[in-house]
Amino acid sequence: MTDSKPTLVSGVKPTGELHIGNYFGAMRQFVELTKADEYKPFIFVADYHALNTMQDAEEMRQRTREVVMAYLAVGLDPKDVVFFKQSDVPAHTELCWIFDAITTMPYLMRAHAFKDAEVRNKEINVGTFNYPMLMAADILLYDAAIVPVGADQKQHVEYTRDTAEKFNRIFKEEIFKLPEPYILPDTAVVPGTDGRKMSKSYGNVIPLFASHNELAKCVMGIVTDSSGDRPENVYAIHKLVRSESELTTIYGSNAGNYKALKEMLIEDLDRYFTPIRAKYEELKNDSGVVEEILEKGKREARAVSEEKMEVVRRAIGVA
Ligand code: TYM
Repeated sequence: MTDSKPTLVSGVKPTGELHIGNYFGAMRQFVELTKADEYKPFIFVADYHALNTMQDAEEMRQRTREVVMAYLAVGLDPKDVVFFKQSDVPAHTELCWIFDAITTMPYLMRAHAFKDAEVRNKEINVGTFNYPMLMAADILLYDAAIVPVGADQKQHVEYTRDTAEKFNRIFKEEIFKLPEPYILPDTAVVPGTDGRKMSKSYGNVIPLFASHNELAKCVMGIVTDSSGDRPENVYAIHKLVRSESELTTIYGSNAGNYKALKEMLIEDLDRYFTPIRAKYEELKNDSGVVEEILEKGKREARAVSEEKMEVVRRAIGVA
């Protein structure tokens, strides 16, 4: 890993069971891009972002552990990645505060995530309102060139770019680099069992570590309508794990037989995720591995971010 490579930054919130939307939308890209060895990756658990909605210490600890093990199970190798917990690196919240000072409320009020949250609950917390500024700090601290995410995070990366430009303009120095979102068109929006975007909040997920029985239950629950030969919601998930040319044959010879197609999907998902699930189970028994990895990541991320913060503090005149 040399420092001349462009940087990749991304994170996942530990707010609940990870699902295959997280995997195909983002985590798989982390693994592939890391293996390609073209980027210097910084991957983290976004626990301070999760705090906005998850306020239970035991659950926070447990879910954080699960996300770390999930990253390892899907194939991230901690020796190739700076792999850490957001809360272990104080520069994230420090830089977030600095961005707060140069950002206006009307600008943040235009964010989709804020508007959606406000529709559901007027008593929205300040952290949710401020979410894009912490995310901008996460990304800009490491001079990210690319941010692999699903389409739902695109606007957050745009906020990040705007914030970098604004900071550079106000303080008359090119301190921050403008990152690009890295969104693969085929998996930008992974659909859930009801055809809408797969999301914990819609209750339409297929968990990444589902047992065979859970998987079967989710797939059998996929919403189908009997208007055509091809159950579109089944097909949309199926094409994540099988090539479209194979599916054309399978769906052609089973036209109208939704039950058989769902059974094949269960089998294909099972085959695809069995090695990942097995690795996850193995990690559960490996005490100390999570702590060790996070400890190393903390040191590395702190060193890089602290260097950046020295430049930022000088630029704004507090140092
Ligand atoms: P989070 O935890 O909600 O989701 C993690 C990643 O999974 C992607 N994703 C999906 N992609 C396609 N289809 C879906 N149905 C689907 N559901 C989830 C998300 O787009 C995301 O990439 N704000 C971020 C976490 C974060 C972050 C960052 C990401 C905090 N700081 C800095 C990148 C860089 C979030 O809530 O992701």
